[in-house]
Amino acid sequence: MSKIILAIESSCDETSAAVVKDGRTVLSNVVLSQIDIHKKYGGVVPEIASRAHTEAISHLAKQAIEQSGVTFDDIDAVAATSLPGLIGALLVGVSFAKALAYSLSKPFVPVNHIRGHIAAGYLAHEELKPPFCAAVLSGGHTSIIGVDNYTSFRVLGCTRDDAAGEAFDKTARIIGIPYPGGKEMDELAASAKGCGNYEFPSPIVKDSPFEFSFSGLKTAVINRVHNDEQKGIETDREALACAFTKAVISGITTRLENVLNAYPEYTSLLLCGGVSANSHIRKAAEKLCKKKKISFYVPPLSLCGDNAAMIGSQAFYEFAEGNVGGLDHNPIPDSEV
Ligand code: KG4
Ligand code: ZN
Repeated sequence: MSKIILAIESSCDETSAAVVKDGRTVLSNVVLSQIDIHKKYGGVVPEIASRAHTEAISHLAKQAIEQSGVTFDDIDAVAATSLPGLIGALLVGVSFAKALAYSLSKPFVPVNHIRGHIAAGYLAHEELKPPFCAAVLSGGHTSIIGVDNYTSFRVLGCTRDDAAGEAFDKTARIIGIPYPGGKEMDELAASAKGCGNYEFPSPIVKDSPFEFSFSGLKTAVINRVHNDEQKGIETDREALACAFTKAVISGITTRLENVLNAYPEYTSLLLCGGVSANSHIRKAAEKLCKKKKISFYVPPLSLCGDNAAMIGSQAFYEFAEGNVGGLDHNPIPDSEV
């Protein structure tokens, strides 16, 4: 039977509400970014994020219902991102969703944010079905995940320290680009004539074929920029972005290739999460899939970053498995998939 889910996302700095039908069709997806609020601090300030979510959430949920063409009565369940994320920010979305579900006498479905990023693939690609391999690259996560079923996952590789998005944002900050600098780094690398004499280490853990480590790459960028400053050499931001992107791509593609070789049961790759918006990484992952003769999927840019539609998609599959939460359900800040 058809299921319509109202979903809420508030795990970091986007407040979002969406209505999704049967896990695959977006009826509405309203996203309010807090970037302008956090920009002046150089990153997300958790307490400010929670307050901004509180101010926006009821309005956005109402807007999502209005734009979807359904009514609150037509909703079968209310879902919210429950883990992982900033605890105060998660609490706003979960408390709102639980209260709304209770007032409508509908079930509440808690959803894992990383699973949500993977589900963004289902909204964009009708044919995408488990099993497949997912590379979740975001501001908070860098994981290669075996999606064995809609609600059953295996973490095959992950980062030991910073996430890919964090590395983009921190590197951007070093060269004077405001938070979050990932998109601008993408554009700088695209307009570069080449990487000049910049060269950075690949963000991998040597002797551990599936693992990433981005902290050394970040340190290498800081050292290079500071050394140049001391010598009075001006940073070529485009060339630096080119070399940084090249290092990131080399790390991501070698790890993905190692995983795909070790787990031949995965004959499709999904790239997802905020960093999957990166034009260079998209191209490199597609090229790898061509070489490996496997299918390549990536959501459209509008579904790469945080949004509630992806939560509504995953909620459909969680709901089908009976994974609902009571009024005593609490969010969790740290968690894997
Ligand atoms: O998935 P997301 O919206 O939030 C988290 O769950 O963390 O990811 C946000 C991250 C930020 O670090 C942002 O700089 C990065 O995604 N990002 C990009 C691009 N667009 C967003 N990184 C590289 N290239 C892009 N085009
Ligand atoms: Zn995210």
